[in-house]
Order: sequence, then structure tokens, then C-alpha cells
Amino acid sequence: MSELQEQLHRRRTFAIISHPDAGKTTLTEKLLLFGGAIQLAGTVKGRKAARHATSDWMELEKERGISVTSSVMQFPYGESIVNLLDTPGHQDFSEDTYRTLTAVDSALMVIDVAKGVEERTIKLMEVCRLRDTPILTFINKLDREGRDAIEVLDEVEDILKIQCAPVTWPIGMGKRFKGVYDLRFDRTHLFSAQHGGRIAEGEIIQGIDNPRMDEVLGDQADELRVEMELVQGASHPLDLDAYIAGRQTPVFFGSAINNFGVRELLDAFVEYAPPPRPRATLQRPVDPAEEPFTGFVFKIQANMDPAHRDRVAFLRVCSGSYKKGMKMRHVRIGKTIQVANAITFQADERRHVEEAWPGDIIGLHNHGTIQIGDTFSEGEELKYGGIPYFAPELFRRVVLKDPLRMKALQKGVVQLSEEGATQVFRPLKNNDMILGAVGILQFDVAAYRLKDEYGVEALFEPANVKTARWVVCEDPKRLEQFKEKNYENLALDGDDQLVYLAPTRVNLDLAQERWPDVRYLATREL
Ligand code: G4P
Repeated sequence: MSELQEQLHRRRTFAIISHPDAGKTTLTEKLLLFGGAIQLAGTVKGRKAARHATSDWMELEKERGISVTSSVMQFPYGESIVNLLDTPGHQDFSEDTYRTLTAVDSALMVIDVAKGVEERTIKLMEVCRLRDTPILTFINKLDREGRDAIEVLDEVEDILKIQCAPVTWPIGMGKRFKGVYDLRFDRTHLFSAQHGGRIAEGEIIQGIDNPRMDEVLGDQADELRVEMELVQGASHPLDLDAYIAGRQTPVFFGSAINNFGVRELLDAFVEYAPPPRPRATLQRPVDPAEEPFTGFVFKIQANMDPAHRDRVAFLRVCSGSYKKGMKMRHVRIGKTIQVANAITFQADERRHVEEAWPGDIIGLHNHGTIQIGDTFSEGEELKYGGIPYFAPELFRRVVLKDPLRMKALQKGVVQLSEEGATQVFRPLKNNDMILGAVGILQFDVAAYRLKDEYGVEALFEPANVKTARWVVCEDPKRLEQFKEKNYENLALDGDDQLVYLAPTRVNLDLAQERWPDVRYLATREL
């Protein structure tokens, strides 16, 4: 096997999807602990705080007590190299999360046993479904009273439309929580509360009929036996092909905060989750084992470190390898650049990477030329697609306090829209600049950054726009007519695409009725 093949088969690149509070941060921390990436649990939250303290525009995050940034964590586990792509916790930055999901090979869904399937999880699952991303499920907080495990699995199947295959099964819950039974190996892992960051091995009992089960579990041993017969009869057996195809999710139970059930999860994750697979480009599918380097940018982040006041473009390596100092072609602008200083983000430090393989994420310094969705190659004209832009739900008109700063404002706004921080729309009828966002906090970030990075003080006024749709029409003549009649409501986005800005939903409905041969798109793929 070539080094490339060997390296890529070791890679597992994933993100955690969950509703806030289900335990994503806690689980991340424990996963890093197993990976030896941090010494003691508690560090992820600490790390968050430290990052706040050392960055500037993220002052805003600190004030609000939210995390709007996302980063990449890499750690070795057994033979594997795991890349965990963190996503912003706040729903106002969900677009970022959606784009990050285009850069992973699989996802881990965390569900709070007391809450079941929640709204954010449903949305994120829809995004995963666009690419049939394989999903493992961790049902968390079994140390607390929650809902019946069978009921929760039924809910996952009904609402998320994915088969559940229990891999482990909880024994009791809350005060009666005794451990998990592993269906694959017919063995029980007994629970012992583990606050703090140590990795402890609880007792393992082989065989569900082992008398030791009755000794330690009392009545609960028989309850488990009865329940397991029921579960095995009623649920789907583990089918890894169905998992890889995104039709089935293997389910694990545990308690992240107690670091219980996490090792089973991680072991199964590195065993089951797919390494990088071929990816579509507009031209042809690209196999990760192809020697020439290719990759695409799924995220741009500004000023993570005040000492480096630039932007970092997050690039997912799709094929071949990155070697320090290599030349790569920035396909959209047709330029070849030499990259000597790509970075990774490990435990908060900017480290220069010597090499990176398919599945890895590297950070490229960006002085304004890189946009989300850009493809880099070693010469071939390729374009990775599938990075979604969502029609904003919120709109504000930007008004300058100092009219002489118009140029700086334009530069800033264009930059922010290229980074995907907000979207910009320029109406055909006037010189207004309208910003669109999915969440309200995006405007705060935009205002802050315009001031901080471009020296522009701007007011954000309400705009008479309720919703936006990208407009396409196969027939150019018809499109011209449409443009003429709807001039008042049309605008161009940051990429000069035509957009219909509707003042009301009713207005949009009417426009759709009147112009049935025009398509109104709520998402746009880059
Ligand atoms: P998130 O990133 O998905 O938003 O969730 P996070 O890990 O921050 O966890 C949300 C809350 O749930 C935290 O409590 C966390 O301690 C708790 N939690 C996580 N896993 C478990 C578990 O297995 N069992 C129990 N009982 N609780 C769990 P908090 O009080 O909001 O925060 P903190 O004061 O603990 O930091």
C-alpha cells in the first residue's frame, strides 16, 4: 500500500450534531481525553475561555457568553487519526455548521435521553441527509431520569426517518443506572460515576446469563434479559452497509459527563466510520487515493489570533497530500500559489503542518482572495460543489455614519459576504446595501467587525424585506421580462446572482403564481 493509501485509511473526519445542551462539549472533551490530546477533562471549556481572552473581536463572544467560532481538533486513537470538526454552538451561526458538515465523512449525533429528538437535531439531520452522511448516535445523560430507551429510539426512527440499531443498551436509568450491555459481544460494562477527567475501566461481565449479573444487578439482571429479547426482536440488527449509506444509525448509550459509554462509542467509531471516500466535482468524481492534491474551502474565519490579523481559510484535503512548500492552483482565479505556512489548530496553538492527507483540514492564510467553496488542485480544472448558502431570514439596510467611508464599507461588506459571515444584496433600483442573515447575532458580528477591521461605523436599519429567493429561469427571454416587471424587488448578491427580495410572504407567493416558469430557490449551492 502506498503511504497515501495508508494515511487516508487511517483518517476519520467527523462532526458532532446535537441540540444545545445535549452534551456536545462534554463529549468532545472526553473524546479528546481518550485521544490523549488533553490531560484532564474540563479543558475544552477552559480552552474556550482562554481563546476568548486572547482574541479581540471575539470580545463579542465573551460579552454574550456564546461561541461563534469553530475549529478543528485532531487526535490519534489506536491506529486512526481522528479529525473532529467543531461547530458553533449558537443557532445564529448555523450556516457555518451546515458548511462544516460538507467537509466531514460522517457525523455523531448526541441526544439527551430526557429530551429525545429536538429541533436543531432535526435541521442538522436534514443537512446530513443531503449527502447521505453516515451517522452514529449517542444517547446521553443516562445517569439522570429520562425517557424510556425504546421510546427514544422510536422517536428517532419516526422523526428523523433513520433506522436505529442498538449496539449497547442501558441497564436502568437515573439512580438505577447500572451500566450498558453490549449486544455485539454479549457483555456488560458496569457503571461507576467518574467525575473529573480520569479514564476508568469499570467491571466487565461476560455473558448476559452470567450469575455475576444477578449478584451485582439484583432484579435488574432479569429485567435486562427480558428487555433484550424484546429489543432484539423489535429493532434492526446492525448493518454496516446501511450505516454507510445513511439509512441506519448504530446507537450507543452512556453518560458523557461520567465518561461512561464513551470508549465503546469511540472504539466503534474508528472501526465503523468511513475513511475519506470519492467526492463529486462538477467535472468528475475524485478518488482520495489519487496522487495529485485537491481540496476545497468550507469556512473562512477572521482574526483568530490578534497577532496574525488575517483570515484563515479552512481547506479540507480531498485527494493526494499537502506538503509544506508545495504549489497549488487556486482554480477559480486561475493562479498558482506556493503554500509554505498552512496551519492546523491543536490545543489552541498554531502549528505549522509539514504534511496533510485526505480527510485532514489545513488552514490557509487568506488576504482576501479565497472564498468559501473555492477549490485548490495541482493544476487540474476541478470544482467541488455542494456547499450550501441558505436564503436569509433577516435583513438590515446598512447606513454609513460617515459617508466618506463608503469605499471601506463596500470592501468590508464584500469581504464579510465572501467569508459567509453575512450575505449582501444590492437592489437593482438604488445604491442600498442590504445585509441578510440567518440569525440576528450575525449582524452584531458584522457591525463589530466593520468597525474593528475596516474602521467603518455603520447603522443597521430595518429593511422592508421578509425573505429572499435566488431566481433562475431556463428561458433567457422570459427572464428578461421577469426582470423588467419585477425590477423593484430584484437585487444582486455578493456573487452577482439575481435574487428576489420579497417584502412579504404573500408577495412571494403571488410572484411565484404569476411567473410559474421562474424558479425561486431557497438555497444556493456554491
Ligand atoms: P452542549 O455542548 O451540547 O451545549 O452541552 P454541554 O456539554 O455543555 O452540556 C450541557 C449540560 O449538560 C452541562 O451542564 C453538562 O455538564 C451536562 N451534561 C453533559 N453530559 C451529561 C451527562 O452525561 N449527565 C448529566 N447529568 N449531565 C450531563 P451545565 O450545568 O449546563 O453546565 P456545567 O455547569 O456542567 O458546565
